[in-house]
Amino acid sequence: MSSFYVTTPIYYVNGAPHLGHVYTTLIADTLAIHHRDRGDDVFFLTGTDEHGLKVQRAAEDLGISPQALADQNAEKFKVVFDKYKLTYDRFIRTTEADHKATVTEVVNRMKAKGDIYLDTYAGWYSASDEAFYDESEIEDGKVIASGSAVEWVEESSYFFKLSKYENQLLDWYKENDTNIKPDSRRNEVASFVSGGLRDLSISRTTFDWGIDFPGDPEHVLYVWVDALTNYLTGVGGFTDKDKFAKYWPADCQLLGKDILRFHAVYWPAFLFSIDITPPKQVFAHGWWVVDNVKMSKSLGNFIDAGDLADEFSLDVLRYFLTREIPLGSDGNFSRVRVVERNNSELADNLGNLVNRSFAMTEKFLEGQIPKFNGPSSDPLDSELVGHAKLAYENILAAMDRRETHRALEFVMSFSSEINLYIQKTQPWKLNKEDKERVAVVLYHILEAIRWVCHLANAFLPNTAPVILEGLGVDVESPLKDLSWGGLAPSKINSPPVLFEKLDPKAFEAKIEEPVEPEEKVDYIEFDDFLAVNMRVGKILEAEAVEGADKLLKLEVDLGERKNRQVVAGIAKSYGPGDLIGKKVAVVSNLKPRKIFKILSEGMLLAADTEEGGLQLTFYPENVSVGTRLS
Ligand code: MSP
Repeated sequence: MSSFYVTTPIYYVNGAPHLGHVYTTLIADTLAIHHRDRGDDVFFLTGTDEHGLKVQRAAEDLGISPQALADQNAEKFKVVFDKYKLTYDRFIRTTEADHKATVTEVVNRMKAKGDIYLDTYAGWYSASDEAFYDESEIEDGKVIASGSAVEWVEESSYFFKLSKYENQLLDWYKENDTNIKPDSRRNEVASFVSGGLRDLSISRTTFDWGIDFPGDPEHVLYVWVDALTNYLTGVGGFTDKDKFAKYWPADCQLLGKDILRFHAVYWPAFLFSIDITPPKQVFAHGWWVVDNVKMSKSLGNFIDAGDLADEFSLDVLRYFLTREIPLGSDGNFSRVRVVERNNSELADNLGNLVNRSFAMTEKFLEGQIPKFNGPSSDPLDSELVGHAKLAYENILAAMDRRETHRALEFVMSFSSEINLYIQKTQPWKLNKEDKERVAVVLYHILEAIRWVCHLANAFLPNTAPVILEGLGVDVESPLKDLSWGGLAPSKINSPPVLFEKLDPKAFEAKIEEPVEPEEKVDYIEFDDFLAVNMRVGKILEAEAVEGADKLLKLEVDLGERKNRQVVAGIAKSYGPGDLIGKKVAVVSNLKPRKIFKILSEGMLLAADTEEGGLQLTFYPENVSVGTRLS
C-alpha cells in the first residue's frame, strides 16, 4: 500500500478562521479523500501556529495570556474544520509537548552540523508577516509584497547558515519539475535564491512567547523554525521512527503563495542541514478576493469560514472553490457565482441525472437494479463504458498533477455523457417496446452513476455517499479496483433532492452597493457581464480557409473534453504558423454559427491596431487553459 502525506500550513491563532484558511484545508481534504479512495495509506495534517510576536501582541491587546488566546482560537479552528467535516488525521498545535521536543532536536542537529552561530541582527522585521526584510523590500515603512508594517530590530541573535545551502537548493529546484508547483513559482523561487542568500536570524531576545533556544534560554526561537518543524512532528518526529519512515517525505505540502519563500527556501535548507530528505512537493495556491476586493478587516469584507458554512451547503461550497479556479491561480469569491455553478452544474447536470435515473428505475423496473449481463454489444452502451473508463483515467491523472479543477471538469463532463446516453436511448420509449432492453439501459445508467459518485467523492463527500447508499453501495477504497459491472442487483432507495436550485437575487444584496453613474453611459448589470463566458484557449491547429483570405480555421483547447473548431477573421494579421501553441481569449458561449459554411464554436477576442490590423492577446505559460476571464 503506498502512503500519501498531505499537509496544510498551520494557522496563526491571532484571529478566527476565514475563507482563505478553509480553502487550503478543503483542498488538502480533497486530496486526502481521493487518495484514501485509491487505497493509499493517507496522513492529513493541519493545525495551529501558536508562538511568536504576532500572537503575543494580539493577546496583549486583548489583555489575556498568549496561551489563553491560542486555546480559544485553536478551538475555533477545530470547530470550523469539524463543521466542514474535514477528515484530518491530526490537528497539531505548536504548544504541544511532542512538538517542542522535535523542534529542540532539530536545532540541536543544526548546531551539531555547525550551521548555527551567534551574532547581532540589525534590520527590519514585520510582526504581521513574522519575517525579516531587506531594505530593498521596503517602501514607506511597509513591506512592498505584503503591505505589512515593519519595525527596526537590533539585538543579539543566533543565525542559521542559509547561504551555505544556496547551491544545494538550486540543484533541488532542477531535480524534477514537480517539487515546487506551479512552475512559475519554482522559477520565482530559483531566481530569488540565485540572487544570493543571506544567513537567517533565528532567535530573538526582546519577547518571550516561543520555544526557548536550546542551550540559551535568554533567546526565543524564531517562530518559522518552530512552525515549519510541525510537518515532522505530525508524523512522529524523531520518536516514532516507523510512522516517520512511512510518511516522510511528504507527498504534497499545500500553502498560499504568500508563504512560498518559507516553504521552498528555508524549509528545504533546514532539512538539508539535519540530513532529512525535502518534501516531494511544495504547492503554492493563489489567493481569494471577495467580489474583486482583497479581504481585509478594515473593509469589513472578511468572510468568516464558520458563517459561510451556514449560507451554503458544504458540497456546494467545496464544489465552487475547487471548480472555479485552477489550483495555483487567484480567484474571485462571489456568492452569485456559487449560485450559478450550483444551479447549472450541480442541480441541472448531476442532480437531475440522479433524480431522473432513480425515478425511471422506480417506474420501469419497480425500483429493482437489474443484474449485470456482461459486456453489451450495443454501440451506445460500449460508448458509455468507454466514457466511464476515460473519465477514470483522466481524473486520476489530473489529481496526480493537482489539477483539481480539471478533475472536476472530467467528473461533470462524464455526468453530461450519461445524460446524453439517456437522451439517445430514451428508456421511456423502450419501456413500451422492449422490456429486456430497458433493463440493460437502466443498468448502464445506474452503473455509470456509481462510477460518477466514486470519482466525485473527494469533491462531494457529503452527497456522493447518499447517492451510493441509494444504490446499495458501500465500499472501502472504491477507486482501487473499479470495474464495470460491479453494481449488484438490489432495490434502490431514491435520495432526496440533492442540490436545491438557489435564487441568485437572494445573494446579490451581499455584493457591493450599486454606485450611481456620474455621466451617462450605457451601463450593463454585472449579471450581463457574467453571461458572457470568456476563457483562455490554446490553439492546437490552424489552417487557411480556401477562398476566404481573411479567415483561419482553428482547433482550440478550452479545457473541455472536446476541442472546439473556431473560424476567425484574423488571416490578414496572423499566419497559421504564428498561432499554434498560443493561448488566447475566447468567447466560449456564443451560439455556434457557420462562417463560410464552416461551423465556428467560439470567437477570439482581438483589438484593432493603428495600422488597421488585428492584435490578439497572448497569455503566458502560467495561465491555464480553460481559465475564465473576469
Ligand atoms: N502560520 C503561518 C504558516 C506557518 S506553516 C508552517 C501562516 N498562517 S496564516 O494563518 O497567516 O495563513 C495560513 C494560510 O492561509 C496561508 O497559506 C495563506 O496563504 C492562506 N490565506 C490567507 N488568506 C488567504 C486568501 N484570501 N485566499 C487564500 N488563501 C489565503 O501564514
